[in-house]
Amino acid sequence: MESIQKLLSENKAWAEEIKSGDPEYFERLSHLQSPEFLWIGCSDSRVPANEITGTQPGEIFVHRNIANLVIHTDVNLLSVLEYAVVHLKVKHIIVCGHYGCGGIRAAMTNHDFKQVLNMWLRNIKDVYRLHRDELEAIGDVEKRADRLTELNVQEQVLHLAKTSIIQRAWKHENKPHLHGWVYGLKDGVIKPVFKMSAGSHIDPLYAYDDL
Ligand code: CO
Repeated sequence: MESIQKLLSENKAWAEEIKSGDPEYFERLSHLQSPEFLWIGCSDSRVPANEITGTQPGEIFVHRNIANLVIHTDVNLLSVLEYAVVHLKVKHIIVCGHYGCGGIRAAMTNHDFKQVLNMWLRNIKDVYRLHRDELEAIGDVEKRADRLTELNVQEQVLHLAKTSIIQRAWKHENKPHLHGWVYGLKDGVIKPVFKMSAGSHIDPLYAYDDL
C-alpha cells in the first residue's frame, strides 16, 4: 500500500475504534470545543502536542511553526492567539520548544538557507544576540544550543506579553497564564523553563496604559 493510502486506511480504523468504545464521541466533539490551553510549538514531527501531554482532541488549541516563534507581524499566529484568548478564553498558553531543534541549530550556523528561511531564522539569531555573553560562555556546542532553545522559549513568551491581546485579557480577565516549556526528544520529558502569570510585570516600554 502506498504510504499516503495508509494514512486514510489508518484513519478509518481509528474512527471505528473510537466509535466502538464511545458511540457519541464524534457527535459530542462536533458541537463545541472549549480547550483550556493554547499550544505554540515547533512543527517538528516528533513533538505532537496531544500525544506528549496525554490529552485528547478538544483539549488543546494548537499553532505550530519552525522553532515555535512568536513574531509580532505574523498574522497567522496573531489570529490564532486572538481567537484562543478572546473567543475560546483559554486559561493557559504554552510555548513549547524542544532540545535538538533543527531551527535553533540552523540559526547558529552561517549557512545561507535562502531568503524565506533566512528571514525566519534571523529571529532566532536576534535571541542569540540578546544573550550572547551567556551563550558564548558555554564551550560545548550541544549545550549552547540547548540553552539557546530555553532562552528562545523565554523570549517568545515575552513577545506574547507584549501584545495588546494578552495585556487586555490580563487586565479584564486576569488570564491567561503564559508558560515556556522545553521538550526532550531523548527522554520524552517536558521541562518548564519560564513562566509569566497573568498580571506579571511588563517592561514599561511595551505596556499599554489605555486598554
Ligand atoms: Co524544532
